[in-house]
Amino acid sequence: MPLSRPIKKAVFPVAGLGTRFLPATKAMPKEMLTVVDRPLIQLAVDEAREAGIEHFIFVTGRNKGVIEDHFDKQYELESTLRRRGKSAELDLLEEDLPAAGQTSFTRQQEPLGLGHAIWCARELVGHEPFAVLLPDMVMHAKPSCMAQMVETYHQRGGGNVVAVEEVPWEQVSRYGVVSAHDWENNHFMIDRMVEKPKREEAPSNLIISGRYILQPEIFDLLSTATPGAGGEIQITDAMIRLMASQPFLGLAYKGTSYDCGDKVGFLAANIAFGLERDDIGPAFREAMSDVLDRYGLKLCRR
Ligand code: G1P
Repeated sequence: MPLSRPIKKAVFPVAGLGTRFLPATKAMPKEMLTVVDRPLIQLAVDEAREAGIEHFIFVTGRNKGVIEDHFDKQYELESTLRRRGKSAELDLLEEDLPAAGQTSFTRQQEPLGLGHAIWCARELVGHEPFAVLLPDMVMHAKPSCMAQMVETYHQRGGGNVVAVEEVPWEQVSRYGVVSAHDWENNHFMIDRMVEKPKREEAPSNLIISGRYILQPEIFDLLSTATPGAGGEIQITDAMIRLMASQPFLGLAYKGTSYDCGDKVGFLAANIAFGLERDDIGPAFREAMSDVLDRYGLKLCRR
């Protein structure tokens, strides 16, 4: 079976409880938190669509029904907008919506870890390579991080691809970490991975950024996986086992990530995306500058 078949499906694990954002996430999924006006899950879907993904598989849990509603037509809202002549808003809703039949939803019934969540999508993915995007990690990249990964995947004749980036050494224990040598431009073959290592045991300070292209054989390995770091079934552990028979490429994608599973990262993403916007960017810059002044800080003027 050739390893470079096209990547048409993406899995979005969205079952997490979001306890770090309570009380905001008491009745609302954390994936609906917004960066400016786009929910985290919409940003991840936008990124996947830019990479040519045509089917979006959401692994949800209890209290996540709003995500399904978000990717559906809102008939009443649309007819009200139409009556009021709000065509720009209507166009925006239309653009954001995957076509009928392009979304699937399944549930992770128990919180057994990220590897288990991805395994829950096995029937929907079938026997083809697929992408995984963790919506907590918001990528600011042009082309999108996943589009860069798909391009590298085809250039290198397939296999598995993991987006990686450098973080300060004191943060490595929050992430999956890979070893990096024999770089070829912006990518390299991974020969070691470890999930949430202690700083002194990390093979590098290059972390797994929450974007994956995986071959379907990963599902067999996930079926027999045992709990790893944090007592959870980890995708990293299954990837380590798959590495014995298939290549794994690390791609240092071009762009910036914001870890929106963390309050500071989430606030930083809002500032960055707000400043970049054509519509509100200039006014937001003024407002930011006033706020910073009040705290004795300064925004450098361009
Ligand atoms: C997961 C992965 C980890 C990766 C991280 C990126 O961890 O297990 O390898 O570096 O996402 O956000 P989690 O954030 O679920 O603890």
